Amino acid sequence: MQPALTVLDDPPAVARHVATWLAQELGAGPPGRRAVALSGGSTPRLLYETLARAPWRDAMPWERIHWFWCDERFVPAADERSNYELVRRLLLDEAPIPRANIHPIPTASGTPESAAAAYDAALRRYYGADTLAADRPLFDVVLLGVGEDGHTASLFPGSALLNERSRWAAAEATSRPEPRITLTYPALESSRATAFIVTGASKRAVVGEILGGASDAPAARLRPAGGVHWFVDRAAAAQEGG
Ligand code: 6PG
Repeated sequence: MQPALTVLDDPPAVARHVATWLAQELGAGPPGRRAVALSGGSTPRLLYETLARAPWRDAMPWERIHWFWCDERFVPAADERSNYELVRRLLLDEAPIPRANIHPIPTASGTPESAAAAYDAALRRYYGADTLAADRPLFDVVLLGVGEDGHTASLFPGSALLNERSRWAAAEATSRPEPRITLTYPALESSRATAFIVTGASKRAVVGEILGGASDAPAARLRPAGGVHWFVDRAAAAQEGG
């Protein structure tokens, strides 16, 4: 399935568009819970702020949505480098989200490996089985960013984790300046919808390579079960037009 590309004028326009898209994605379909895996990094900050504001705040089925993370730095939850802290400050504390629906990667103690194992177990408990079924995705939406080197989540070029097909979460212990925990491809690909959110001229080359089909970067290797959307601003778009 070809990825769908939407080009918006600027980062605020991307944030508003994705917030609207997310509310539609999560509000549609059968009753019951939804699961969203959130990206870290700086790009989605505007999205998290936007979701907590009207009219989007009033359009989301908050009580039914469970929040997970695509990756995390192995730092205390209150650390400014924490992806959890970013979302807590901008969204979780600003919207009517039940605390039981928030599933952070546990970095308070232990090692990156034990944190990854605990998160892996939590994902399987939530899913209710140890095997991911193609017709029952783990997530409804996975939100991802892309680094200039083509990494996504904490799946970096050359990492052994690019070949991990059993574990749903794993430690990227070689990551600097701090070790990270990341979802692996099996978990990231088990999603009804996947959205890459990319803005800024520094990402234009990697976006062009990936969408041009010539890239073997970690972000290009993702083969989600459901639809893939690229929401980019003009600065990151390899072509003009929307
Ligand atoms: C993280 C993200 C990472 C991010 C890219 C892009 O935890 O940092 O998972 O994959 O999405 O590095 O980061 P920016 O949005 O800051 O450019």
